[in-house]
Amino acid sequence: MTRHLITSALPYINGVKHLGNLVGSMLPADVYARFLRLGGEEVLFICATDEHGTPAELAAFEQDIEVSEFCRQQYEVQAELGRRFCLSFDYFGRSSSVQNRQLTQHLARKLEENGYIEERLTKQMYSLTDKRFLPDRYIVGTCPHCGYEHARGDQCESCTQVLDPTDLIDPKSAVSGSADIEIRESRHLFLKQSEFSERIRVWIETKTHWPRLVTSIALKWLNEGLLDRCITRDLSWGVPVERPGYEGKVFYVWFDAPIEYIGATKEWADEAPDKRDWKSWWYATDDVIYTQFMAKDNVPFHTVSFPCTMIGSGEPWNVVDYIKGFNWLTYYGGKFSTSQKRGIFMSDAIELLPADYWRYYLMANAPETSDASFTWESLAATVNKDLADTYGNFVNRAFKLTEKHFGLELPAGGENGDAERELCEELDVLIAESAEHYKTLQFRKAIQALKATWTLGNTYFDRKQPWKTIKEDHGDAACTLRTAINLVRLFSTLALPIIPETAKKALASVGVDSEGAKWPSQDAVSEVAALAPGSAFTVPPPLFAKVTDDQVVEWKERFLGEEES
Ligand code: 2FM
Ligand code: ZN
Repeated sequence: MTRHLITSALPYINGVKHLGNLVGSMLPADVYARFLRLGGEEVLFICATDEHGTPAELAAFEQDIEVSEFCRQQYEVQAELGRRFCLSFDYFGRSSSVQNRQLTQHLARKLEENGYIEERLTKQMYSLTDKRFLPDRYIVGTCPHCGYEHARGDQCESCTQVLDPTDLIDPKSAVSGSADIEIRESRHLFLKQSEFSERIRVWIETKTHWPRLVTSIALKWLNEGLLDRCITRDLSWGVPVERPGYEGKVFYVWFDAPIEYIGATKEWADEAPDKRDWKSWWYATDDVIYTQFMAKDNVPFHTVSFPCTMIGSGEPWNVVDYIKGFNWLTYYGGKFSTSQKRGIFMSDAIELLPADYWRYYLMANAPETSDASFTWESLAATVNKDLADTYGNFVNRAFKLTEKHFGLELPAGGENGDAERELCEELDVLIAESAEHYKTLQFRKAIQALKATWTLGNTYFDRKQPWKTIKEDHGDAACTLRTAINLVRLFSTLALPIIPETAKKALASVGVDSEGAKWPSQDAVSEVAALAPGSAFTVPPPLFAKVTDDQVVEWKERFLGEEES
């Protein structure tokens, strides 16, 4: 049987992630993992913190603590936020692990043995004030491509161009702000990516089912000509390069970070070596489908650099089968920015509203085919209309009406008629559509289908009007309300991948343990008869509270962010 390996792009350790980061990788990966598990599939869902490189060093420097201690603290913060957002990682590792260090050094050795590593004398920025080399983010300046004035030496946040520190106009040290910089020579290792151009192109061209966003970014890189890439840095924090003369140098963070997908799997297996086998997920297997989730700025590294590492090793590593890439989530059309503190961060979000509100809103508005804009108004509208008025209201009506007329058990009596038959026909179509959209990783469409099932429930109620028929046709009212409680079970099962906490609560109310829940069969008639007459239920408090106009005003004011300077 096929097994599913799922990885989410690794969140940088340098601070709490914002909602754009969440919806661009970790959350959709979680929804997909949950959907597959619900369908009975074997899944391994891996993520980790990306701890090396200049982002971590700079953040630790700002807090005046050791970088290893900074990473230890921030790992806990991010792991806890992951739990609070119900991200169901099978393992959440750390790229600073021993496992990743060994794998990174191993792969570098293999690349070298195969002739894909070359030592070159490079020119690096050196700060006379800071008395150190200034790689990547240690340098800030103006982007030569788009003119953005706060571009970093590794990549321009504004236009996503990958940069070399020496490309920047008016470069300054990010540590001291000093422009007292000179160019010095330093030896570094280069991965000869140029030798992989044709192999990578042929491989990408077979991926016709991948999102256009992903293949077009990969082909753009290939068409511009693959450049050999410097994979070492003059830094102390990172995976050491085992080579004479490379003391004080480490591997570039983008070299070791994707290797941590494997490293974290090994961390997972090392916790229970008798039961878990990391290699069976990564090495010489043909029964594993490997899906990666990431935002568009990560695509080049996953379509080109990481595959070069894997293929170039000459070993039979599993290379990715499907890449789901995302556009940007914007904050009122502007950039979410960690440095400018603009937008909403996971730690703030979870204090304002429960995880399911965010999960649903973000996935319903996921930036799949274009950028999507976060606004407090659209959050309120989506939560109030879809969750409170459609799903929540249906569940509440079903429980309250049944309790009022029949007590806390599913009533017996009455028989299915045209309304139930038509309801089930429509449900069959929507359940199949929803599953198909999940399988093809089209999350917005999957949620549209889910929402449509909830609407069907309310329409069914309005058609059957059990509050009226109870007086003239007791049996029909019993049939309607029995069906309605069964619909609570069905709708909540379908909702488990998106709003797991609420769906679990609703299922518990009808005596179903969500742990054992299964994606519904292709037979709505039996699904809406799963709970038999006489089954007990409890009435939960309303599942969702509405977001008020006052909250929107307050939050909008509070999360304005700092002006760009
Ligand atoms: O862009 C980022 O946030 C990176 N930390 C993603 C790394 S993904 C993987 F390669 F590790
Ligand atoms: Zn730019």
